[in-house]
Amino acid sequence: MKIVSILENLDQEKRISITPEIAKKYIASGFEVIIQESYGNHLGFKDNLYKDLGVIIKKDEKSIFDGADIITQVGLPSKEKLSLLKENQVLIGALNPYSNKEIIENLSKKKIKTFSLELLPRITRAQAMDILSSQANLAGYKAVIESFASFEKAIPMMMTAAGTVPAAKVLVVGAGVAGLQAIATAKRMGAIVFATDVRMASKEQVESLGGKFLVVEGSENMETEGGYAKETSDEFKKKQEELLVDTLKKIDIVICTALIPGKKAPVIIQDKMINEMQVGAIIYDLAAVQGGNTALTKVDQLVEKNGVKIMGERNILNKLPISASSLYAKNIFNFVMNLYDSKNKKININLEDEIIEKTLIK
Ligand code: NAI
Repeated sequence: MKIVSILENLDQEKRISITPEIAKKYIASGFEVIIQESYGNHLGFKDNLYKDLGVIIKKDEKSIFDGADIITQVGLPSKEKLSLLKENQVLIGALNPYSNKEIIENLSKKKIKTFSLELLPRITRAQAMDILSSQANLAGYKAVIESFASFEKAIPMMMTAAGTVPAAKVLVVGAGVAGLQAIATAKRMGAIVFATDVRMASKEQVESLGGKFLVVEGSENMETEGGYAKETSDEFKKKQEELLVDTLKKIDIVICTALIPGKKAPVIIQDKMINEMQVGAIIYDLAAVQGGNTALTKVDQLVEKNGVKIMGERNILNKLPISASSLYAKNIFNFVMNLYDSKNKKININLEDEIIEKTLIK
């Protein structure tokens, strides 16, 4: 069984899907591992490190894909590189199935078995493969670090002989995986933390982390069967707006994480709310790439409005690519092991397994 991976598009993606630690695990499971020259160089994983573990290093994509059984990546390779893939090869990654729909569907027409792990069901058995959770966790942490670093006041309350510095007030919008990690991180640094979500189930989780949950009336029925948020009604939006207008006036830092799978992110923080925020306040918008949770978010740009800074990046995980790759590569390894029939040494695409059925692009 040959498992391979080629260089990511380094301008956009610094994470990798086969770390040295995971290469070792594949080899111990009987796989042959092939990667492209300089694959992990930018993360300090030199080719020799991989070679010493028994990994084969090759120069060009064609020779890597030739005879490969499984190709693992983070992002979707370019069309040119994808054209080198052949029938029955398995491609696994975070392929962004909603925006890359056409390209991915063409791959399945060519009978390339394409799995996009954003589509994993949120079930207990899938937790060890859940790239959305592992990456969102790090993103939530890093969004707090980034916004705190730009904030021009102290975060924790400090009582000194010269007077008292008040604790910063943080609002987390969307208390899913990223939001909960943001709450935990902000609390650890001494901030006073508020959070809101349309799923009432998150209230208990927010409170267990020491955050104060702000309830928007009518939240009870906003959760889908899969545990995700539903798109909100205009009436709900109005109620949420009323709650936020007042709250935001006293908030120093907002971390936005609200998403609806496959849809544009909901615009929750309107222009007029930003106008009433304190000078020096910061909004870090983790939903930026999906359109943003504020009306002013611009991807990879710092927007300033009346002294309020709004930031959001294409890929915050590029700011901690080693930790992100370590978790991502483990998620992929667990997914591959679920796909692999070790007794017969072959890939078993068992469509009765919900994990396989839901992630396979048909
Ligand atoms: P997500 O990344 O899709 O969204 C982030 C958060 O934003 C969610 O909590 C969502 O409810 C919230 N949101 C959406 N629209 C909003 C709005 N208009 N106003 C305020 N908040 C809004 O969510 P994530 O982190 O992927 O979690 C989704 C669900 O999956 C949760 O129920 C979570 O507990 C569950 N989950 C289950 C796992 C498992 O069992 N394998 C693993 C990870 C998450």
